[in-house]
Amino acid sequence: MTKAVLRALGGEAVWPPPVWLMRQAGRYLPEYRAIRAQAGDFVTLCTTPRMAAEVTLQPLRRFGMDAAILFSDILLVPWALGQLLRFAEGEGPLLEPIRDAAGVAALRPNGLLDRLAPVLETVARVRAEVGDATLIGFAGAPWTVACYMVEGAGSKEFATVRAMAYREPDLFAALMDRLVEATAAFLCAQIAAGAETVMLFDSWAGVLPAAGFRAHVIEPTAEIVQRVRGEHPTIPIIGFPRLAGTQVAEYVDLTGVDAVAIDTQADAAHWSARLGRTPVQGNLDPIALLAGGEAQRLSTETVLDAARGRPWIFNLGHGILPATPPEHVTDLLATVRAA
Ligand code: CP3
Repeated sequence: MTKAVLRALGGEAVWPPPVWLMRQAGRYLPEYRAIRAQAGDFVTLCTTPRMAAEVTLQPLRRFGMDAAILFSDILLVPWALGQLLRFAEGEGPLLEPIRDAAGVAALRPNGLLDRLAPVLETVARVRAEVGDATLIGFAGAPWTVACYMVEGAGSKEFATVRAMAYREPDLFAALMDRLVEATAAFLCAQIAAGAETVMLFDSWAGVLPAAGFRAHVIEPTAEIVQRVRGEHPTIPIIGFPRLAGTQVAEYVDLTGVDAVAIDTQADAAHWSARLGRTPVQGNLDPIALLAGGEAQRLSTETVLDAARGRPWIFNLGHGILPATPPEHVTDLLATVRAA
């Protein structure tokens, strides 16, 4: 029988809805922290298939999730293109920022998939062990990855990259073109290695005005969807245009994604009614999961009410927070499975 997540992505109103959680592998799990300590640094963890496969599978063993998401990071693409990347303790990612034509020209697209070979090896290993769960591959969408590449770190406003897109459109387009190419190639390689669906994370889609959203979120995503579908016509693609607001509708219409992940702020009932038979993924508030108890149960019911009778994959509206008690996740699965 076809796996529940793939059935939902194929347009079936699977009930109760299949469940997985963004960042389901991570610091809230003691078994993750143990492997993370062994690896030492985060990039080593992502590029050591034995360890990356192990942490990918941990939440499946503990909770019985319906999907495994490849353990990797959206910043592995800039890393594989040759940009210096490190994860400083408590600071998040730090990259050597790219601000000019020389920086863009220094990116090395040749050999990209060779440098990402350990990640592809992780995909193959996990696929051999997922059983009835679905293996989700992923990449960052070009806009969000460009945000980190140009700023060199996380940011509230991403003002440097947004100003670059206005002031130096040719330079910015050159960077985005390289990212479209690299992202499509990496997703195709993940599928060839065993990913059963792929997700594009556009976490900073919401910092752009409407026209910028069309140019830097919708257009490059549409291009990637077209390229991936050209090689793998039956593999569903999930898009996550975080904080897109009302532009979720045109994102779905114009990118060609098969399914859309909605963020915490999105009104699940609204999109349930507005998106026809397009499969939706989301969108429990990660803070409700951190809080647990009655608040978590009520918030979960709100999402389940929106999910009923239409294709839906239960998830959070953003990644699980490190302070989340694992027992709250156990409770969540019980609530969803009892729906
Ligand atoms: O379980 C999963 O969801 C799979 C693995 C995964 C990670 N990052 C692991 C990770 C996925 C899908 C991502 C995507 C990712 N990475 C995004 C898009 C989704 C989102 O959260 O908005 C972004 C923006 C990044 C970039 C990134 N990576 C940041 C900003 C950080 C620091 C934040 C933090 O929690 O420290 C990371 C590090 C990171 N990526 C961790 C994990 C488990 C924590 C690293 C650690 O163990 O120290």
